[in-house]
Amino acid sequence: MGGPVAAGSLSDAPARERCRTGIEGLDNILEGGIPKGNTVLVAGSVGTGKTTLTLEFLIRGAEVGERSLFLSVTEATEKLMENMRSFEFFSPALIASGQLTLIDVPVLYAKLGLTQEELGIDEIDALLQTIERLLEETHAQRVVIDSITSLGYRMRREERIRDFMLRLSQMLAHHGCTTLLVSEIGPLPGRYSLHGVEEVVVDGVVLLGNARRQGDILRVLQVIKMRGTSHSRAQYVVEMTPIGLLLAPHLKGDRVEEG
Ligand SMILES: Nc1ncnc2c1ncn2[C@@H]1O[C@H](COP(=O)(O)OP(=O)(O)OP(=O)(O)O)[C@@H](O)[C@H]1O
Ligand SMILES: [Mg+2]
Repeated sequence: MGGPVAAGSLSDAPARERCRTGIEGLDNILEGGIPKGNTVLVAGSVGTGKTTLTLEFLIRGAEVGERSLFLSVTEATEKLMENMRSFEFFSPALIASGQLTLIDVPVLYAKLGLTQEELGIDEIDALLQTIERLLEETHAQRVVIDSITSLGYRMRREERIRDFMLRLSQMLAHHGCTTLLVSEIGPLPGRYSLHGVEEVVVDGVVLLGNARRQGDILRVLQVIKMRGTSHSRAQYVVEMTPIGLLLAPHLKGDRVEEG
């Protein structure tokens, strides 16, 4: 009793409620999880584990009773099912019960008649309205869009992408969703999104990449930013296992080959 008070604890803002990702190593870095209602970019080059990480986030949420929604732009939902089956904690009952919903965005495009190569303002409006309807129908508390990069491709112009991103993130925040937006980037470090606007509107950035250690290529993870959270920016080695993603500190001296 009466011991020293930790520096800064008196002036700290009240702790934000956390959305536990269920990936223990990541929750440990993030003081328990992502602040609820935040939108986070999960950026990484090809095969760095973006889809796997975001699927685990949703399955873990669905398991604890949070409605979870995956909007897949790049992969058919059957392929996602295969990916999820590699997790031994995944149960197809989560989908059957509506706890976890997977949506094929190309199918949505077809239903909306969005067949043209370039999406104009009206088409983007229609897309946003459809996403909002899905949020309302599913009562989603956790959302993933894989990938935001692919959604942006067809909007072409930077101002359209920026406007879409702003409206999307406001909508997600309004519905109280904790969201992971997948960002596909090249292997060179320094940027977290292809269009350059995605990282500006989000509350957090998690970077996945590759590193070389004695001839092996390791997957690595780094939290670049997370509003409302004091977190380590150290690099962690990620191992994908049937019990989920495992994180371990990346030893100094290992050279980072890719962002
Ligand atoms: N549970 C698992 N255990 C072991 N390996 C896995 C597991 N889940 C996925 N993988 C492997 O990890 C690799 C990359 O995963 P993932 O598809 O998540 O990466 P990505 O960053 O989304 O790739 P892309 O850029 O192609 O979309 C895949 O080749 C897959 O075989
Ligand atoms: Mg992927």
